[in-house]
Amino acid sequence: MHLTHNRRLAAALAVVASAALAGSLALVRPASADTSLKQLAEAKSKYFGTALVQSNLSNSALVGVATSQFDMMTPGNEMKWDTTEPSNGTFNFGPGDALVAFAQAHSMRVRGHNLVWHSQLPSWVSSLPANQVQAAMETHITTEATHYKGEVYSWDVVNEPFNDDGTLRQDAFYNAMGTGYIADALRTAHAADPNAKLYLNDYNIEGENTKSNAMYSLVQSLLSQGVPINGIGLESHFILGQVPSTMQANMARFAALGLDVAVTELDDRIQLPASSANLAQQASDYSTVVSDCLAVTRCVGVSQWGVGDADSWIPGTFSGYGAATMYDQNYQPKPAYNAAVSALGGGVTSSSSSPTTPASSTSPTSPTSSSSSPGGGAACKVSDTVDAWNTGLTENITISNTGSAAVNGWNLAFTLASGQSVTNAWNATISPSSGSVTATNLSYDAAIAPGGSVSFGLQATHTGNASAPPSFSLNGQACATG
Ligand code: XIL
Repeated sequence: MHLTHNRRLAAALAVVASAALAGSLALVRPASADTSLKQLAEAKSKYFGTALVQSNLSNSALVGVATSQFDMMTPGNEMKWDTTEPSNGTFNFGPGDALVAFAQAHSMRVRGHNLVWHSQLPSWVSSLPANQVQAAMETHITTEATHYKGEVYSWDVVNEPFNDDGTLRQDAFYNAMGTGYIADALRTAHAADPNAKLYLNDYNIEGENTKSNAMYSLVQSLLSQGVPINGIGLESHFILGQVPSTMQANMARFAALGLDVAVTELDDRIQLPASSANLAQQASDYSTVVSDCLAVTRCVGVSQWGVGDADSWIPGTFSGYGAATMYDQNYQPKPAYNAAVSALGGGVTSSSSSPTTPASSTSPTSPTSSSSSPGGGAACKVSDTVDAWNTGLTENITISNTGSAAVNGWNLAFTLASGQSVTNAWNATISPSSGSVTATNLSYDAAIAPGGSVSFGLQATHTGNASAPPSFSLNGQACATG
């Protein structure tokens, strides 16, 4: 008996060992593909983002993590003024375009960063006579926001406007236009891209303090003047152990003004060398930040600034500090990654060949997929995944062109279940918001080559019925599903 048991155990271990040697799934592994940050966040109607710079795109280890874990991308430098308009009237969108194309190819949305900032500002702007600054700022915003119209989820319209004492920074814009430059920048951005969510973004405004109070007063004043503003970005460049205890309350007070909030540039720097106790504290810090966002409905997502410690900006900027992200120098997950996964409701999973349901769901309806149907020679196939919780859902829809002709421009018609109402969409516009709706391509995803596919998605509220649409038609023709 005992011997048999041990033989079985030995045989099982041999299978595990050979599977591991063959590069297959091990029996138990850290939470990864099946419970990625993005899947877990999406199941809570949030995103999990990262910042990328163009040189990152040739680093395959970095790209592997970025594309499997994150569904939002902020260009680290490539949309800033010094890159996009290095001399007056000369625009360069090549580097930003490369990052946007990468994001679109990997179903990531884009946070545009940024339009107006005192830093990484070419000297031609700061040396303009004061009476020319407004026109230069408006031209810059209009040209850049028009270039990326429909391709960015949001814009950090003004970045870091405040000093730590709550006064406005005396930069070229303030000096030329006074406080009103902020309203003017927001209005100009809104005119260029009315669908982008417009943010003010700053650091040291994560907790309740003098600086965040000043931001709060500014936003109240902007709202009372009818200035278009949708959200506040909390950069969240933390020092180990210093996540403010008032972060959730602070996010909640901005949300109560009717604004979105986002954690836009999260990292948590450690004085090097990092001890295991430091890494445990960092895990706790990441968990706190993620939990704070989850606790505030209007907190739309968390973005880390960079993918791993090897590409983080921290060591180059804060001498003696580093190890500030969830991934180590070799893109292996650190305790902070596991903490973020667990805060999102995921956990260490046993492997299996079947996909696992994110452990975060509080709903019996999550996830559901539409069932297969024959489709009778249709030239399209639609697959649809819904992740639902008690009152909301996210739905990711992929249209595959199964015909031999290219599709150039598409409308996908389908009927939402009763009680579902679309609140947000990406990679398509959807109209109306309930009942029989049509999703229409954006400029960058209009073409579907034969054998190719495009994906788009939506967020919706529901009143109990979170089921996927039973059928879809593409440009008037019924599609197969499954
Ligand atoms: C940083 C980039 O990561 C660096 O590569 C660059 O040298 C300086 O800027 N707040 C912001 C970001 O809003 O744009 C900054 O990014 C980090 C601080």
